[in-house]
Amino acid sequence: MTGPSAENGSAMTPTPKAVEELANRIFKETRVPSFIHVNLDAVAHNVDVIRRLSGPNTELMGVVKGSAYGSGILPVVEVLLEKGAKELAVATMSEGIYLRKNDVTVPILVLGNLIEDEVVDILQYNLIPSLSWDKALRGFQKGDLCYPDGRRLQVTLNIDTGMSRYGVQPEDLAELVEFLDDLEVEIHSMYTHFQSSITEVNLNRKQLEKFLAATKPYEGRPFYRHAAATTGLVQGLGADLDFVRPGGAITGLCSGSDAEDAKQFESCGFRPALSVVTRPAFYKLLSAGRRIGYDGIYETTEPEWIVNLTTGWSDGCARKLSNQGAVKRIRTGEKCPIVGRVSMDSITIKLPDAPHSDEVFQLVTDDFDDTTSAIGVARRLGAAVYEITGNWSTRLPRVYTKGGEVVKVFRSLEYTN
Ligand SMILES: Cc1ncc(COP(=O)(O)O)c(C=O)c1O
Repeated sequence: MTGPSAENGSAMTPTPKAVEELANRIFKETRVPSFIHVNLDAVAHNVDVIRRLSGPNTELMGVVKGSAYGSGILPVVEVLLEKGAKELAVATMSEGIYLRKNDVTVPILVLGNLIEDEVVDILQYNLIPSLSWDKALRGFQKGDLCYPDGRRLQVTLNIDTGMSRYGVQPEDLAELVEFLDDLEVEIHSMYTHFQSSITEVNLNRKQLEKFLAATKPYEGRPFYRHAAATTGLVQGLGADLDFVRPGGAITGLCSGSDAEDAKQFESCGFRPALSVVTRPAFYKLLSAGRRIGYDGIYETTEPEWIVNLTTGWSDGCARKLSNQGAVKRIRTGEKCPIVGRVSMDSITIKLPDAPHSDEVFQLVTDDFDDTTSAIGVARRLGAAVYEITGNWSTRLPRVYTKGGEVVKVFRSLEYTN
């Protein structure tokens, strides 16, 4: 969590005192014991890094699915648009409609594979669906496929160059294009998605070559090409096409959790924007031989300070962190082990001494720490880095800051996406 001393996303690391002061102000203002902090200066900074890694004529399409990977879609979109992102991409229709209902007017791609029932909403909300085949549009006539302002439906074509998930096979592309031409559907863009992690350049390069070869016959036509998401940006693969299409990088999340992935990602200058901040709700000195929490899986071996924090698996703290995760004690930098089971609404940690009343702890740190950052937790759990931020539910408020000031607070039920 970046304190007041950090200016507009600079690489300055705030002092523990600054972090505590900001957190305590937020605790007081929001009157909650735990919250998710999203530093919008870090988001703006990451957009600058993305631009630096992109070609000079390449535009940014910000991927904000999964509520911007847990950071909250609207505030992140606001920064992206302020910083000049030309287009956005989401995974589902509901996300696209949500953005439209919140007055977002730039082109929005819906990356999930289109199904027939979604066409009516695609048209009504002026969205650009992703196609891997013609199935969803087979039942329609030319005249059916227009947006309310009369423009022809636009689609983006996903080309399978190796991911083998969605996507038209390159050898079937011509037939799909012909089908769309007959229906007078416009092709907004063609894209592909890399399968391998940052450290596996060769396979991604092969995918890029396959993509460039597949789209070459259409070079004279007015559509965009895009391939690089976070991994491609870091690898410099496809980062000079018409668009880059990153998601994780926007909030400073690395696409892979290996130490080498993290090293390369961090060295680009990205900064994680999200931290999970909490403070002691209760604490006590327990004597030796006390078994803590459900199933008593941790037993004190000496007099131990046990501190309760009010966040649990219902908020998004993985239950698998029971007896193996740690929480950062901001004042000292200590990593305090999670002891016993992560419960639905709380966790217990062990401290070497009693906490002070204004002490602040972070359950997910906005850095690249091996233990407590999203990347560190993901490595420990064998999870995706994006899961670690994306799984936090709406129960904890999300607090947004710029220049060390709170600019927005989303509280549980208000925060619906
Ligand atoms: C098709 C597609 N494009 C772009 C992205 C963004 O990827 P990243 O978050 O790794 O940048 C994703 C994420 O899963 C995706 O599925």
